Amino acid sequence: MSKNNVVIKNGVRFEIAKYLNKVAPKCTKVVIITDNNVFLHYEADVVASLERAGITVKTFVMQAGEKNKNIDTYTAMINFVADAKMSREDVIIALGGGVVGDLAGFVAATYMRGIKVIQMPTTLLACIDSSIGGKTGFDLPQGKNLIGAFHQPSAVLIDLETLKTLPKEEFQNGLGEGIKYAFLIGNGMLELLKEGLDDGNLLDFVTRCVDYKLDIVNRDEKESGLRKLLNLGHTLGHAIEKESNYTIPHGLAVTKGTLCVANASVKCGKLQKQVYLDAIDVCKKYDLDYTISYDIKTLLKNIQMDKKMHSDGDISFVDIEGVGNCVVRTTSIKVLEEYLTK
Ligand code: NAD
Ligand code: GLY
Repeated sequence: MSKNNVVIKNGVRFEIAKYLNKVAPKCTKVVIITDNNVFLHYEADVVASLERAGITVKTFVMQAGEKNKNIDTYTAMINFVADAKMSREDVIIALGGGVVGDLAGFVAATYMRGIKVIQMPTTLLACIDSSIGGKTGFDLPQGKNLIGAFHQPSAVLIDLETLKTLPKEEFQNGLGEGIKYAFLIGNGMLELLKEGLDDGNLLDFVTRCVDYKLDIVNRDEKESGLRKLLNLGHTLGHAIEKESNYTIPHGLAVTKGTLCVANASVKCGKLQKQVYLDAIDVCKKYDLDYTISYDIKTLLKNIQMDKKMHSDGDISFVDIEGVGNCVVRTTSIKVLEEYLTK
């Protein structure tokens, strides 16, 4: 997707109709998909902007939480969209965090074989990661995101003002993906996190993450190679999420996975120990528990259904050679276990 279709601007939620008109000039109906927390804060602002422009708006409110990122919620959503008699010219707006964004994106991908979706992320994690790149879907009992589709948003409208109401633990959760980006991008990102994110540098931080992800996705949308890099920390991360019965949120699980790989990399002499210690300082600064209380062997045994698993039993994982120098490796689970536990 073009960089021009990503807008990062305080108060952009009051101007939705303008951007909607740019990407879907024939749209007359919008279904907003949100969750019960975000609804209370921001739904009215978005509705007001759309109704002023003569758009008919209906809102589906899901119960917040990863445990609801499932087929029942999807079914309820798609029925709601059909009942609203949405046409192919109409648009779904995903207003919320990654759970809302992934589900609403998948509804848009599958309703009438695909209609437009605008992502309006309201968590740090969604701003820097999940709203970009077009991965949509939901979880099955067997594993994370096992149902899904690639469906690029027509626009991503990021209103950093909405992060003001984000609970502290959700900001921390987003930083989990932030640490992942710091290892992927290099260029002082870890130092920026060490200094601390504030009103003065948040825009810069989010923009750099978004630009990095856009560049990768534009070169490898369907994850045949390069995009796999964005899965740094996710091999263990997904297993940790599932093992905890989703009580450990995605971003925090990714931090644990990333720090575990970084530690292995230090032990092999590839990564400077000071970098790993800096990453731990970032975790401490934001009160992020980077330790893993599960047995790595058990975690790895439980990832047989992971999308990173190949049919021959090997698995892709992202290794850290240095800051700004990560590589995708394919190995057996046994070798990965030895690497991560030695
Ligand atoms: P989330 O969507 O569950 O949101 C976290 C909590 O914050 C929820 O309770 C929500 O109601 C609340 N909230 C959201 N915005 C708020 C605001 N502005 N003010 C107050 N409360 C607010 O979680 P998340 O961390 O945003 O997303 C995690 C999900 O994203 C996972 O399912 C993960 O698999 C997915 N994900 C997808 C991609 C992708 O590329 N599609 C990438 C990374 C993660
Ligand atoms: N979060 C990984 C990706 O979007 O590819």
